Amino acid sequence: MAIRGYVFDAYGTLFDVHSVVEAGRALTADPVALSMLWRQKQLEYTWLRSLMGRYEDFWAVTEAALRHSVKRLGVVATDAALARLMDAYQTLACFPEVREALQRLAGRPRAILSNGSPRMLAAAVASSRLDDLLEHVISVDRVKVYKPAPAVYALGPATLGVRADELLFVSSNAWDVAGAKAFGYRVAWCNRAGGPEEELGVRADYVVSNLTEIPIH
Ligand code: 2OP
Repeated sequence: MAIRGYVFDAYGTLFDVHSVVEAGRALTADPVALSMLWRQKQLEYTWLRSLMGRYEDFWAVTEAALRHSVKRLGVVATDAALARLMDAYQTLACFPEVREALQRLAGRPRAILSNGSPRMLAAAVASSRLDDLLEHVISVDRVKVYKPAPAVYALGPATLGVRADELLFVSSNAWDVAGAKAFGYRVAWCNRAGGPEEELGVRADYVVSNLTEIPIH
């Protein structure tokens, strides 16, 4: 069956969340540790808030995860320093092959489906100049719950007007891959880190190492 549209995860897939390491250098001798813990806590908080039914948008969750991470690592940070790290999230670099990969798919709808808040996603898309390469930018904020809740993945078919099994969902986050596959998409895992798949009872249809390799048929 032909692929009639593409739905991309944002953070980790199109945008490199660890490009905040540069901003972290001013705060700590180990900015990579801060960036890794920050990302892990950010995701943990989305899952916990979804299970508790206590949604806050991704900007608030990202800020809370940062505050916890600097305390956990004993990093002394002023509010101004934290604000600078948060600002770095607004202008994340996109991975080098993203423009070419999206141009290659022109002619069929290309969407972002992300935990990011509308404001965060608009800033990241504008900063990477991807606006002309995306037909839709969809935030979980519409349904006030985070991935991998089915209500989130349902936004793809609802927005593009294409059935999930005729869409290719693309993510670098293996847990997000599992959520989309469980919902009913065809799924490509962009395994940037070369890590093992998650043991969650479902498998990606395709595994690629960068976005220019995803199938166009
Ligand atoms: C996103 O939804 C999973 O944070 C990742 O963009």
